[in-house]
Amino acid sequence: MPEIGTVGRAFARISGTGSALPARAVSNAELVRELAARNIETSDEWIFTRTGIRQRYLAEEGTGTVQLAERAARAALACAGAAPDSVDLLIVATSTPDQVFPSTACSVQSYLGAGGAAAFDIQAACSGFVYAMSLADALIRSGSHRRALVIGAEVYSRILDWNDRSTCVLFGDGAGAVVLEASSAPGILASRMHADGARGSILSVAGRLNQGAAVGDPYVRMDGKAVFKLAVDVLESSAREVLALAGLDADKIDWLVPHQANVRILAASAKRLGLPPERVVVTVDQHGNTSAASVPLALDVARADGRIRAGQHVLLQGVGGGFTWGSVLLRM
Ligand code: ACO
Repeated sequence: MPEIGTVGRAFARISGTGSALPARAVSNAELVRELAARNIETSDEWIFTRTGIRQRYLAEEGTGTVQLAERAARAALACAGAAPDSVDLLIVATSTPDQVFPSTACSVQSYLGAGGAAAFDIQAACSGFVYAMSLADALIRSGSHRRALVIGAEVYSRILDWNDRSTCVLFGDGAGAVVLEASSAPGILASRMHADGARGSILSVAGRLNQGAAVGDPYVRMDGKAVFKLAVDVLESSAREVLALAGLDADKIDWLVPHQANVRILAASAKRLGLPPERVVVTVDQHGNTSAASVPLALDVARADGRIRAGQHVLLQGVGGGFTWGSVLLRM
C-alpha cells in the first residue's frame, strides 16, 4: 500500500549533477605572495589551520556567473541524459549576478536555448542553493513543474576587498547544478528554510547601486566568530528538524554535504550529529568558500568520484548571510 498522503503525488528526485570551475587555481602560497605585494600580511599556515583551505579558483576577467552556471547546467543535463528544452523550471541561486536584470537564470536559459521555462534567481547568500532546492521540490510536488535545473553560481572574487585579509583569503568562484525531476519514488524526503533578519549585520555586503555608482560598502564584511557560533547551532537544529520530518535517525545519513565555509564548522556540525568525519563531503580545501555554489559543487564531486551512490541518504545544508539557513534531506 502507498503511504497515506503520497497517493498520486510526485516526488522530486535528482537525476543529474554537474559543476564548473574557472581555469585558474590559486594556492595559498600564490595568494600570500600576491597579497604581500599589496602589503597585506598573511600565511598559508594561518589560512589552512583556521579554515582548511589550500586553494581556491578565481575567475579570469571576462568569465562571469552566467558562463560558470551554464557550464555546470550543461554538465548536469548531460549526466541526467536530458535535453535543455525539456527543462520547465530554471532557478539560479547567486549573490553575485553579472547584472541587475535580466536574471542570471534568464541569461543561462537563453544560452541553453531552453526558452519558455520559468526562470528566476534567488538570493539567500550561502544558503541559496538549499533554498532553491526546497522551492523546486515544492513546485515539482505541486505538479506545476516536472523537470528543474537548480544551479548555485558565484563569482565572489568580485565582491572581495583584497585589502581585508580577514575575508579575502576565504572565498572562491565556481558553480554547481542539479537536474531535479518528478518521480514516483523519493527523492527529496524533507526540506526546510529559515532566516533571522535581525542577525543580518554579522555577514553582509551593504552597498548598492544608485545613479550609476556603488553607494556604501560594496564588499563582504563578516564577524567571523559570530558567524562560526551561529552556523554550528543552526546547522544542528536544521538537520534535526528535517530528520524528524522524514522519520530518520541521524545515523541513517550516508553523506553530509554542508555549505563549505570552513572545515572547523563542518567538523563541529558532524560531531553534534554523531557522524564520523568520513561521512562528511569536504571540498573547501580545494574550492574555498564558493557561497551558493559550494553545496552543488561538493555534491557533484562526491557523486562523480563514486562516493555518493543511488539509494543513499544525503543531507544538504546551507548557512549564510541574511542570516539564513536550511536543509534538504534526500535519497539519491
Ligand atoms: N592572515 C593572518 N592573520 C589574520 C588573517 C589572515 N588572513 N585574518 C585575520 N587575521 C588575524 C586577525 O587580525 C587577528 O589578529 P589580532 O589577534 O592581532 O587582532 C587574528 O588573526 C585572529 O582573528 P580572528 O578574526 O579572531 O580569527 P578567528 O580565529 O576567529 O578566525 C575565521 C577567523 C577563520 C574567519 C573564523 O572566525 C571562522 O572560522 N569563522 C567562521 C566564519 C566563516 O567561515 N565564514 C566564511 C564565510 S561565512 C559563510 O559562508 C556562512
